[in-house]
Amino acid sequence: MAPRRKKIYEGKAKVLYEGPEPGTLVQYFKDDATAFNAQKKDVIEGKGVLNNRLSEYFMTGLTNIGVPNHFIKRLNMREQLIRQVEIVPLEVIVRNFAAGSIAKRLGMEEGTPLPRPIVEYSYKNDELGDPLVPEEYIIAFGWASQQDLDDIVALALRVNDFLTGVFYGVGIKLVDFKIEIGRVWDGDFMRLIVADEISPDSCRLWDVKTGQKLDKDVFRRDLGSLTDAYTEVAKRLGVLPTNTQPIKPTLIN
Ligand code: TMP
Repeated sequence: MAPRRKKIYEGKAKVLYEGPEPGTLVQYFKDDATAFNAQKKDVIEGKGVLNNRLSEYFMTGLTNIGVPNHFIKRLNMREQLIRQVEIVPLEVIVRNFAAGSIAKRLGMEEGTPLPRPIVEYSYKNDELGDPLVPEEYIIAFGWASQQDLDDIVALALRVNDFLTGVFYGVGIKLVDFKIEIGRVWDGDFMRLIVADEISPDSCRLWDVKTGQKLDKDVFRRDLGSLTDAYTEVAKRLGVLPTNTQPIKPTLIN
């Protein structure tokens, strides 16, 4: 695709282009899938289209319950208009059940319920493989202040409650997820908002009844078709009905 706009940033799964107005960007969802810090790579046809729709669906829902986020509107199959933010260099992870790295680190069986939702942070740095960092590092190195972290935890737990309910309603257990947070400025006043994306790339989603994995672990662990898994999630949420006429999520004002 010939870029129609100036490219601002290219990551592993998305590209950011200059937006039509100052303070906006266009977020393009690629079909590229990576895992283990891009040691495993593939192109999964249709993944970008599904994640564009799914992230629109979740961000619109968050807007409707008053959780501030970067989403403005979907532009087409693969692109959405977003607010430009200054990304806080952290991956904010919320866990409800043990899986992935926490299960490995603590020798827990995957699926074990955690005593309460656990919020943890990785420092966003590909060269270092996004290492887990304590709050002490975040504050000492100035990536975020204590007040920022209090706000980030509050946002992350609201997102967790919202997503847990939405997924549970369609028979899916939200095991864990990752969000990213951005700063926006209204004059001298700084606010933190949810940014990046919310999609099966950044969540662990298990079917409530069968335990079947419906997220990027299908790719990480070679468990079958990633497109089929994401399509199943989209269909259950009514984002991509079988008759191919996608339902437009309505924004309540
Ligand atoms: P983890 O168990 O591998 O630490 O992953 C926790 C959650 O974060 C899981 O839902 C997958 C998501 N995640 C990302 O979105 N990006 C990443 O780079 C990693 C490692 C995990």
